[in-house]
Amino acid sequence: MDGTVRDTGGAAAITLAGIGKRFPDGTEAVRDLTLEIPAGELVVLIGPSGCGKSTVLRMINRLIEPTAGRVLLGDEDVTTVDPVALRRRIGYVIQHVGLFPHQTIQTNVGTVPRLLGWSRERVRRRADELLELVGLTPGTYARRYPHELSGGQRQRVGVARALAADPVVLLMDEPFSAVDPIARGRLQEEFLRLQAEVRKTIVLVTHDLDEAVRLGDRIAVLSEGGRLEQYAAPATLLGEPATAFVREFVGTDRAIRRLAVTAISRELLETDADPPAMAAPTLALGTSLYDALARLLVSGAEYAQVVDDAGQPVGVVSRRRILDAG
Ligand SMILES: Nc1ncnc2c1ncn2[C@@H]1O[C@H](COP(=O)(O)OP(=O)(O)O)[C@@H](O)[C@H]1O
Ligand SMILES: [Mg+2]
Repeated sequence: MDGTVRDTGGAAAITLAGIGKRFPDGTEAVRDLTLEIPAGELVVLIGPSGCGKSTVLRMINRLIEPTAGRVLLGDEDVTTVDPVALRRRIGYVIQHVGLFPHQTIQTNVGTVPRLLGWSRERVRRRADELLELVGLTPGTYARRYPHELSGGQRQRVGVARALAADPVVLLMDEPFSAVDPIARGRLQEEFLRLQAEVRKTIVLVTHDLDEAVRLGDRIAVLSEGGRLEQYAAPATLLGEPATAFVREFVGTDRAIRRLAVTAISRELLETDADPPAMAAPTLALGTSLYDALARLLVSGAEYAQVVDDAGQPVGVVSRRRILDAG
């Protein structure tokens, strides 16, 4: 490991094989959960409060020991690894990041590399690189203390710290829920860009469906006792809820949410229709149906011209087709 951000050889798949947790007081937080999380994907765990999401997450890094089943990182059973060594290979971000208040941002970010015995110079370089990556210019922020940052900035530092030693897995427990909605939207967007770059295996817990739909490659909907109701891509979850529980959970806005995660595809186009009126909007293939519909409504047009990457017209899309797809 040479400490460069893009040098992310390791993104391990996670296998939860029939895991369960019964606490000493008898509470059965998770009964029997089996879930396969592919390497390099962002999987969201969502479900009502108390359904066992945090318990599942903490069984992956052994902050909680399962009382049943097995957790595999790649093909390695995590119970065979020393828990402290394990946690250094797994980034963990929680709602209130828990930065060390009397340490600078740079020192906070360098925590795990320092524990791993990296040289001072290498730790410092790595911290600066990570701060840059999460959008905090090191020249401005490296020497500051946590209380000199906004809530959103502190969450970014938390993410930088979790990534510092190039972990094979990143666990995030409601990482953005303590920041205000506007900052949250921006953090989510930046986080997607970051993930496109580092391609970690990420398990993110949230109770916010919009966040789940926006961030997740796949979403696992859990009900009480960590029961898996559905595990699917966002568009599938919204379009074809597998159980009554999921249908109720995704609610009545699901058609609109689905438009936001479905792109204009060639199958949706009418290629033999008359060219649309002059005032009609032009949209690129891949535009979300939500944005497409908004453009049509604003312009007053029934049809939009659709163009490919090269800007060549490939057909038209109608309001009707968009609504049917939702
Ligand atoms: N240490 C514990 N001892 C007993 N019960 C616990 C403990 N931690 C969590 N629980 C219970 O386990 C269930 C799942 O908790 P948790 O995983 O925190 O849910 P979530 O993160 O989905 O809100 C809840 O009923 C909670 O009260
Ligand atoms: Mg929780």
